[in-house]
Amino acid sequence: MAPETSDPVPTRDQVLEALRSVIDPELGDNVVDLGMVRGVEVPAPGVVRVEIALTIAGCPLRAQLDRDVRARVSALPGVQAVELAMGEMDAEARAEVMSRARWKARERAPVTGIAPSTRILAVGSGKGGVGKSSVTVNLAVALARRGLTVGLLDADIWGFSVPRLLGMDGAVEARRGKMIPLVRAVEPGTLKVLSMGFLADEDRAIMWRGLVLNRAVQQFLEDADWGQLDYLLIDLPPGTGDIQMGLARMLPRTELLIVTTPPVAAQKVAARAADMARRGYLRVAGVIENMSAFTCEHGTTYQLFGAGGGARLAEEIGAPLVGTIPIHPQVSEAGDAGVPVAMGDGPLAGVFAELARVLAEEVAPLVEASGCTARLLDQLAEVVATEPVGTEG
Ligand SMILES: Nc1ncnc2c1ncn2[C@@H]1O[C@H](COP(=O)(O)OP(=O)(O)OP(=O)(O)O)[C@@H](O)[C@H]1O
Ligand SMILES: [Mg+2]
Repeated sequence: MAPETSDPVPTRDQVLEALRSVIDPELGDNVVDLGMVRGVEVPAPGVVRVEIALTIAGCPLRAQLDRDVRARVSALPGVQAVELAMGEMDAEARAEVMSRARWKARERAPVTGIAPSTRILAVGSGKGGVGKSSVTVNLAVALARRGLTVGLLDADIWGFSVPRLLGMDGAVEARRGKMIPLVRAVEPGTLKVLSMGFLADEDRAIMWRGLVLNRAVQQFLEDADWGQLDYLLIDLPPGTGDIQMGLARMLPRTELLIVTTPPVAAQKVAARAADMARRGYLRVAGVIENMSAFTCEHGTTYQLFGAGGGARLAEEIGAPLVGTIPIHPQVSEAGDAGVPVAMGDGPLAGVFAELARVLAEEVAPLVEASGCTARLLDQLAEVVATEPVGTEG
């Protein structure tokens, strides 16, 4: 777009406001409130210069913050160029940021049983039926097959489908007042699953009563003993509303994976979901295109719903395209049989294995326990858990 004199030059305040939607997923807060923004300048119309100080320069989240800052700032009207400098904090500044994060951790009343080092990915879309649940379940299986411990929370309180897709039933037991997720070994890893479908009818009725959907999700997070998890995948219900906002409040470091389908019309809906997420300060980790081109056994490719929608959405919202999943009857047949395709060895299992690889190695890698803030945060969580709230030490 050619620069026009009528283009509003972003003000410093507008830039800062945009930066408030950039979340440091480890510290669970935005970079402005954490004090990581060291400078914002607009040296010429449309040119924005931002300086960010990282807690630790070699942090694997550096690339992610870089991408998020650029995406948010360049989305402001009138911005032509973003110049971004990343520095490292000194020990004193780092201590300051940690203490701020610590206050935030305390303020956030509900204490979930999810360890700070667990990477949380909620799978959502703008509309129903695009394959969120199928994608979530298969991705969880594929991650477990990498040897990881993966939690799977079915946040679709009314329309739960995870138990059926995994062929699991059974009743959740409680130990010391905490729900114990159902465990399924997926060699060499483990799945831990909680769903409304595992609750006894009367318990379900209590949770349904009075439309306390968020309470139900909150209970699955707070009143459950998940143990140590590498990833927690959350299957969101269709739509964009309450549950997402509730997650943003309870687990602000939740990141969103947006599932979309190839047609352009679906992108608008999915873009709205991304927008919602941002306003609720959830970071969009990536886009997955489901029901993409299907190649039959004769080698002919059918683009049943058009092509390229996932890539377009990813570009629009400044998030990576994690991968595309072909439309294939085996996906739904396997779902009906309760044995997800990702469990097998065919080409579709390969598609999900590759998705899991891209997630685990590129888009949402586990934060190394050494050399980054995750370790500090795990210690912090212990301190917060053992200290009385309300007395600042
Ligand atoms: N890649 C695929 N190929 C073929 N069928 C698929 C694929 N992905 C999902 N399906 C089928 O599409 C239907 C909807 O999938 P699913 O229930 O996973 O969607 P959803 O987005 O979770 O729906 P809801 O909004 O109701 O929660 C199911 O019948 C499922 O088997
Ligand atoms: Mg679903």
